[in-house]
Amino acid sequence: MRKVIKYLKPYWLIALLCPLAMILEVSMDLIQPQLMSDIVNFGILGTAPADENLRYVIQTGIYMLIFSLIGCAGGILSAAFGTITAQKLGNDMRKDTFEKVMHLSFQQTDKFTTGSLVTRLTNDITMIQQFVAMSLRMFVRTGMQFIGGIACLLFLNVNFGLVLVISLPIQLIVVTLIMKRAAPLFGIVQDKLDKVNSVVQENVTGARVVKAFTREEYEINRFDDANTALMETNMKVQKLLAILNPLLMVVMNASVMAIILIGGLQVEAKSMEVGSVMAAVTYITQILMSVMMVGMMFQQVSRAMASAKRVKEVLDTDPVISDGSSAQAEITQGRVEFKNVGFYYPGTAGKPVLKDIDLTVEPGQMIAVLGSTGCGKTSLVNLIPRFYDCTQGEVLIDGVNVKDYELDVLRSKIGVVLQKSELFSGTVAENIRWGDNEASDEEVKNAATIAQADTFIQGFNEGYDTMISEKGASLSGGQKQRMSIARAILKKPKILIFDDSTSALDLSTESKLHEALRSSLSGVTVIMIAQRIASVMRADRIAVIDKGTICAFGTHSELMQSSEIYRDIYYSQMKNEGGEQNG
Ligand code: UTP
Ligand code: MG
Repeated sequence: MRKVIKYLKPYWLIALLCPLAMILEVSMDLIQPQLMSDIVNFGILGTAPADENLRYVIQTGIYMLIFSLIGCAGGILSAAFGTITAQKLGNDMRKDTFEKVMHLSFQQTDKFTTGSLVTRLTNDITMIQQFVAMSLRMFVRTGMQFIGGIACLLFLNVNFGLVLVISLPIQLIVVTLIMKRAAPLFGIVQDKLDKVNSVVQENVTGARVVKAFTREEYEINRFDDANTALMETNMKVQKLLAILNPLLMVVMNASVMAIILIGGLQVEAKSMEVGSVMAAVTYITQILMSVMMVGMMFQQVSRAMASAKRVKEVLDTDPVISDGSSAQAEITQGRVEFKNVGFYYPGTAGKPVLKDIDLTVEPGQMIAVLGSTGCGKTSLVNLIPRFYDCTQGEVLIDGVNVKDYELDVLRSKIGVVLQKSELFSGTVAENIRWGDNEASDEEVKNAATIAQADTFIQGFNEGYDTMISEKGASLSGGQKQRMSIARAILKKPKILIFDDSTSALDLSTESKLHEALRSSLSGVTVIMIAQRIASVMRADRIAVIDKGTICAFGTHSELMQSSEIYRDIYYSQMKNEGGEQNG
């Protein structure tokens, strides 16, 4: 809640105007029954001449009308101020949370899950907004209605206090009992909503796979389960809340009857006017209504608390991977060294994925990394731009530990082409400009040419202005790979990392790419993961990885001599491709 108040600060003036306008509205509401009572007592039952009575009724009626108009204006203003505050606050909160999410490391976003982050950014913040808008208005309204109502009622006749003494505690007990049971459920509702969002998110992004495997039925059932679980928890909450209001209504009606009874006896005894009894009925209704409101507010508060806790969790998460302390460290050459590096993924109980890695890549060298699937190649290169931090040893660039660089500095000099090409909706040029926003058309085209992408881009109807659909769905796998390569090249990095990024290219395109890289990016260190011998043969050195360790390192011909694993891979691939190549 303290967080929410912090977000309220910049808008304190508008936030303050909201309850002020509300005070105006409630004051008018409190005056009305009094005027009504006067009309009855003096205007209708009064002993003055008839035309004077009529004048009194009309005059007071006009007052009532004016007051209710003022009250109405107050109500509208209060609602407006409340809404503005809540919207601004939600906007800020969403922005900060999103920024935070952007800075979290892989392991942290994985832990939250995408679905949950989406819920927190949307639904949870909306809950907080609703709470702020309501509490700004309702706290004041209920408070004033409650206290003002009691004061007015007792002013009419102290005996009415008796009704309050009995009815108020009953109402409070009812509200407390029910809210105590409902409050913990609100957090659960949000958790269930996470699950629904996760299923939706997974299936919408993976729609193609779902269809390819005709898993629609299965996934629909999975969604049904999550959705039903959400509904059931919601039902539980609603059942509890459904009891609340009718119970409170019973207490309220009984209290009204008690007021009429007490008032009636007093009128009988000529110690009270009929109009005052009418006003008392209105006041007791207002008082008990405000208690009902408290019930509603409790509900909103518990909901908002549950949501605020979830948003706070995100806001309070410190990125595990953050800027290093060496502000002046710069990457100028691109020498990459792994010194006795070991690594395991968080949450895998220290089961090592990489161990005892010692590897030096000189500036401008092209190193290939080869190894069977799951041996740790991606994990190895992920340590260089600090997508993860190594758990043992150190990774150095130009002699400086990667953990000492500022993240921006480090990553701006490293071009990474991920194993799975991710493009974004926008034009071809916009996607390539991810590498460098300021790049000229010339530079974009140049990068695309090196990446062997220019030709197919020119083939599009609108060339570089062709729109790409979400996630690059409108491109072929090889086209996506080459766009991602162009994007990385445009960054003018000192170190380029290709994670199996040429797997979808035919051999001749791939060899053209290699030539272009060699000639255009001569000073750039290239680390290239590949599965095909044909792709790695041209590299200066090849590192063969087996079960998380480098089992052989050298040139193609050296490895053919010294490494049995390398020879095995070579012959098995040549056997498969031999038919095509030799025949
Ligand atoms: P890698 O992702 O490093 O393997 O995972 P790789 O060599 O690049 O494999 P391919 O060629 O792309 O298929 C190495 C090991 O780390 C585990 C995987 O289960 C694998 O055994 N791993 C990977 C995790 O535990 N968590 C992850 O987030 C990623
Ligand atoms: Mg991989």
